[in-house]
Amino acid sequence: MPQFPKGELAPADGLIPLRAAVSSIDKTFHAYVHVPYCKARCGYCDFNTYTSEEIGSSSQGTFAQTLLKEIEFSAGVLENSRIPSRKLSTVFFGGGTPTLLPAADLIAILDKLKATFGFEPELDITTEANPDSVDEEYLEQLKQAGFTRVSIGMQSAVPKVLAVLERTHNPENVSKAVSAARSVGLATSVDLIYGSPTETLDDWRQSLQAAIDLATDHISAYSLIVEEGTKLARQIKSGQLTEPDEDMHADMYELAEQMLSAAGFTNYEVSNWSKSVETRSAHNMAYWKSMDWWGYGPGAHSHVGGVRWWNVKNPAAYQDRINAAVSPALERELIDEENRNIERVMLETRIAEGIDLTWLKEKGFASNQAVSELIAEELVDAKEVFRGFITLTLKGRLLADLVVRKLIN
Ligand SMILES: C[S@@+](CC[C@H](N)C(=O)[O-])C[C@H]1O[C@@H](n2cnc3c(N)ncnc32)[C@H](O)[C@@H]1O
Ligand code: SF4
Repeated sequence: MPQFPKGELAPADGLIPLRAAVSSIDKTFHAYVHVPYCKARCGYCDFNTYTSEEIGSSSQGTFAQTLLKEIEFSAGVLENSRIPSRKLSTVFFGGGTPTLLPAADLIAILDKLKATFGFEPELDITTEANPDSVDEEYLEQLKQAGFTRVSIGMQSAVPKVLAVLERTHNPENVSKAVSAARSVGLATSVDLIYGSPTETLDDWRQSLQAAIDLATDHISAYSLIVEEGTKLARQIKSGQLTEPDEDMHADMYELAEQMLSAAGFTNYEVSNWSKSVETRSAHNMAYWKSMDWWGYGPGAHSHVGGVRWWNVKNPAAYQDRINAAVSPALERELIDEENRNIERVMLETRIAEGIDLTWLKEKGFASNQAVSELIAEELVDAKEVFRGFITLTLKGRLLADLVVRKLIN
């Protein structure tokens, strides 16, 4: 895999150099809001999130006010960088646990985004939610304010697996949260994780069936990544827990495809299945199509034009910078054309529509030999190649990184 350059220090004014700003011309614009708070930290998670024992609750109380200021700051940066103003095409609240904040805070942030940038018609406005942190009244307020979708962290239906993951939610609350969201008219999605220590194929079948029985519009299934520095990584290193092997991961992925497609879901990205094109995650599609997004909040990543930057992670440091009218960005990287093209291959190859073969060839990727090998190994669909696209087969979805390596070498 290519090594991307390490970040350079981001400038205090946050300005985007003109040579990078021009890449925004043909891109839609999206907002990600990172809410860095959780009631408890799950043993496998290394997202930028804090419990009140870790940082107290003071920054949580002022979080929305600080975030509103970053929205104002971002509008100034875009204008001063001479990037033409664009309405937002999607908004996504992620975390951490966005729904730990009062609904009024999420709504104030959403209203500010609308007043600042305007919204494209029919935009997808999603929040992630933990099953224990939402009820019908809360979700009704979000719906009234314009939210369209809620993505609920289910992870597993099996108590033993939830315990290994150190999820604190009551499994019964998943169906309550999905029913509440549906009853107020929000589209629903659940996230599942497979490949946890001690999880058997039967456990995974049980979780998939439970997710299918919820009759959501969308299901994401992620293979568990053992992140360095997490409690789970330490438990595996010390031999207290054992990771399932690669064959088990592959069997679990194949079972997901088999059960979800039989239940009427279509896979549209390696880890994502949707009941219809309309219920896909438009926000995640924007990431995979390398569109522009501003990531608000501590530790959030942004990608505008040919620049990517990431904010300081600590909520207090983030707040101090915003209050001092200094960019919260810690580091940034200017993405040159070669790296931009490589990233495009890495992301678009994973989408069911595939990636344009003519474009790949123009950029010097996808040699005839590589493409014939990928077809011979049944990693890409031969019929689609003749239509001019590289699209993964089921076997290719299991080995997506290998396919990308072959395409770019
Ligand atoms: C970071 S969480 C935020 C939403 C919410 N707090 C929750 O846990 O549901 C978003 C999703 O990331 C996934 N995730 C987090 N850490 C992961 C890991 N190490 N491996 C695989 N998926 C992970 C989980 O499926 C989770 O639903
Ligand atoms: S609830 Fe979500 S964000 Fe919080 S620690 Fe668990 S997985 Fe991470």
